[in-house]
Amino acid sequence: MSTGTKKADSGTTFSTRNDLAAETRTKSISLLNQHLADTFDLMSQTKFAHWNVKGPDFIALHKLFDELAEGLEEHIDEIAERATALGGVALGTTRQAASSSRVPEFPSGTHKGQDVVAALAERFAALGKTTREAIDTADELGDKGTSDLFTQVSRDLDQSLYFLESHLQG
Ligand SMILES: [Fe+2]
Repeated sequence: MSTGTKKADSGTTFSTRNDLAAETRTKSISLLNQHLADTFDLMSQTKFAHWNVKGPDFIALHKLFDELAEGLEEHIDEIAERATALGGVALGTTRQAASSSRVPEFPSGTHKGQDVVAALAERFAALGKTTREAIDTADELGDKGTSDLFTQVSRDLDQSLYFLESHLQG
């Protein structure tokens, strides 16, 4: 999703002794900030699901969603601090995340257990896809550290999707 008329100070970079080329760092910071926004948005939607799910599987789903949100939260911190380690500003306020997230908003009125699981599965799969793409993008930029970070995030997103989809299969 485009930020439209809003402009964040994503161009700000601090000088650093890090030997990665400035152009590489600038592009990696931008990529990291996009994923910070997307991952932050999905984390808040997963908490929303944790709070608002209903039905006979309530307690199992309530607990699962909290664990998935916690997993995302750890990665959010790592993504943000990779952006700052490269000399960037981590654009991680709620408003900054919301204005640039590509994750579609959680469908309103969705509370039934299986429907909530399906909505989350769609969103975890979407973030999994873009994160997998980010592994290659960072690698092509010559930033193996960022590529490795996205590889870790991607592996966890795959596992989270498996946990979610297991409720929809069989
Ligand atoms: Fe809670």
